[in-house]
Amino acid sequence: MSTIEQTTTSTGVAPAEAVAALVSRAGRRDPYPLYEALRAHGSVIPVRPGLTVVVGYAEISRALRDNRLRVQDAASYDVIYPRWRSHSSLRGYTDSMLYRNPPDHARMRRLVSSGFTPARVSAMRESVERMVHRLLDRLADLGAGGAPVDYVAEFASRLPIAVISALIGVAEDDQQWFRGMASDLTIALEGITNLGRLGTADQAMDELAGYFGDLIEHRRRHPAGDMLTALVRAHDDGGAGLTHDELVGNLMLLLTAGFETTSFLLGHGLRLAFEHPSQAALLRDDPGRATAYVEEVLRFETPVQATSRWAETGMELLGTPLEGGTKVVLMLGAGNRDPRRFPDPTRFDPDRPDIQPLSFGAGPHFCLGAPLSRMEARIALPLLLRRFPALAAAEPPDHRDRWVGRGLRRFLITVS
Ligand code: HEM
Repeated sequence: MSTIEQTTTSTGVAPAEAVAALVSRAGRRDPYPLYEALRAHGSVIPVRPGLTVVVGYAEISRALRDNRLRVQDAASYDVIYPRWRSHSSLRGYTDSMLYRNPPDHARMRRLVSSGFTPARVSAMRESVERMVHRLLDRLADLGAGGAPVDYVAEFASRLPIAVISALIGVAEDDQQWFRGMASDLTIALEGITNLGRLGTADQAMDELAGYFGDLIEHRRRHPAGDMLTALVRAHDDGGAGLTHDELVGNLMLLLTAGFETTSFLLGHGLRLAFEHPSQAALLRDDPGRATAYVEEVLRFETPVQATSRWAETGMELLGTPLEGGTKVVLMLGAGNRDPRRFPDPTRFDPDRPDIQPLSFGAGPHFCLGAPLSRMEARIALPLLLRRFPALAAAEPPDHRDRWVGRGLRRFLITVS
């Protein structure tokens, strides 16, 4: 369909209806039938003037690499919400790479990437293993005698925070506080769609900015071989480095981009193991299967279901005209279930060849933390299954009531 008119197809659901339903309670719980209703209209679908959605794997991949499509930045906030600067959380994020376009984006990304070199990530393997064992010990204590334990609160959300804290250099005693702040701050990752709750994100941003300010000062006086030291140097060198606000903004981004997303991956990973006991048994007996297992979890239950871009000026996207100012929503969760790319997409099958899900995005903004979160899940899931042969769900998992951030809120399990 190449015009904006609202036609219905054999499924009977018009694009605008399907998009609206995605943010309804039922759609948040199960967006997949709505993706199929959209797919019946094509892969790149004009929904209404100013809004186009993309649901095809190949098309999303192309769009994410198309530099005519821009991420939301300060200039675009000025147009859609001129008062946005009154929110410190939005100001903080626009100082980070995820909210910057060329040429700023490449400068920031190059500097921050130094913390994510393959060497630095694999150097963290042993410490991630230690963290996993420590958290498993804790699960064993809490779940002694068959007591139900919340896997999300006690494991899936603790591991990512412990890993990011180690990467950034946050002291262990501060991690619980840090976790609460990170959770509040993620509200602002949804931009201005949740204005009512932005106050909570602003407060977290202000407290974290103070905390990071102290941490930066400490590293300046006591340099270490870590990522924060490298970033502080980039700031202090001036020239092509980072401003103080950009340094803090990118630290906020690292904290929040990698926290809930990885906990969603760990949550889905265990839930799917319970639903597919033969796959769980294979994973337990052969941790070498973890790579394929984790990729299929990422495909099947995409932690970040969508991202968006803006057509700054009029253009054509794979044959579909976009007017300047059009928002393009790239539905990663739909692309990961595109039957042209993944035959029988609703089947959970770690043995499918060449999975390569869209879950970490693609192109210039491809997730910087992908190797780290993959490593966490590949280590954690087999160890969890090995450590507790009697691991079981105590009750069905409680899903978060969100569309974009798809994860579990609570999952009571028994370990013995
Ligand atoms: C399962 C876990 C994760 C998922 C599903 C995920 C997903 C994503 C996605 C989809 C993007 C691209 C957004 C876009 O193009 O609009 C992204 C970007 C990013 N992610 Fe992740 N992420 C995960 C873990 C992490 C971790 C552990 C970190 C860091 C510690 C991290 C840091 C970042 C950063 C810094 C960006 C921005 C890159 C840029 O703008 O150039 N992520 N992530």
